[in-house]
Amino acid sequence: TDRYCVFGHPVGHSKSPAIHAAFAAQTGDNIEYTAIEAPLDDFAGAWRRFVAEGGRGANVTVPFKEAAFELCDTLSERARRAGAVNTLILGGNALTYGDTTDGVGLVRDLKRHGVELTGARILVLGAGGAVRGVLEPLLSEEPVSLFVANRTAAKAEALAADFCELGTIAGGGFEAVEGPYELIINGTSASLAGDLPPLPEALFNDGGIAYDMMYASEPTLFLRWAAERGAATIDGLGMLVEQAAESFFQWRGRRPDTGPVREALRRTL
Ligand code: ATR
Repeated sequence: TDRYCVFGHPVGHSKSPAIHAAFAAQTGDNIEYTAIEAPLDDFAGAWRRFVAEGGRGANVTVPFKEAAFELCDTLSERARRAGAVNTLILGGNALTYGDTTDGVGLVRDLKRHGVELTGARILVLGAGGAVRGVLEPLLSEEPVSLFVANRTAAKAEALAADFCELGTIAGGGFEAVEGPYELIINGTSASLAGDLPPLPEALFNDGGIAYDMMYASEPTLFLRWAAERGAATIDGLGMLVEQAAESFFQWRGRRPDTGPVREALRRTL
């Protein structure tokens, strides 16, 4: 049995153990996947202990994605750009390799829904770690423009500057938003606080799509706002399952079928 886990703090709510158990049941891989609450002040120690006990790889969630980035011996290009790691892989040489699969997870889920990214005008709300992690895969689809809007405008401007050689990207405050857009992606945690970013009214193109990187049993505040303005809405459950599938592929070399896993997970919300 090969051992994997998800590290977080807290981590009890994580759906990753159920997702990876379902993947393994599909592919016939003999793995054990648990949730481990790492101490806030010693993430590296938690990973070393897990490896000493036979761990082969891990997912990393809040608040350890930057600490995971720091401890890696080698990084994928996309993880280096993101400044964060959500997938740790123990190499055959006992070195730790870090990757981030959040961005491909988002892009795969968008494509699965038939969302056309190439040539699209995209608005991304938020400029925190979650958004940084998805910009490179989004830009590699060659949207005609990507605007990052954030409550703290300077953070959005700095983020856009970090990615400017990858495509047409700019950043600013919510007041700088100028629609319409084919796709608006919410990467803020504002709806957790029951808040909506202050956005102008006519923001969606005909056939416009709203994607929330969050999900819940009910549509999020952002998705309800978007639906009232005529947009089609997608929540982040599919992104969660797709990023997990990409991590599983990095560890096991096999791609699970995400559809049935996503549907089963939806029923548990
Ligand atoms: P994460 O890793 O989830 O991205 P983060 O780095 O703390 O977490 O970023 C949270 C994001 O949500 C930021 O873009 C934050 O805006 P600021 O940079 O201005 O803080 C945004 N955010 C959080 N609460 C918000 C609110 N009530 N209204 C608007 N934006 C909010």
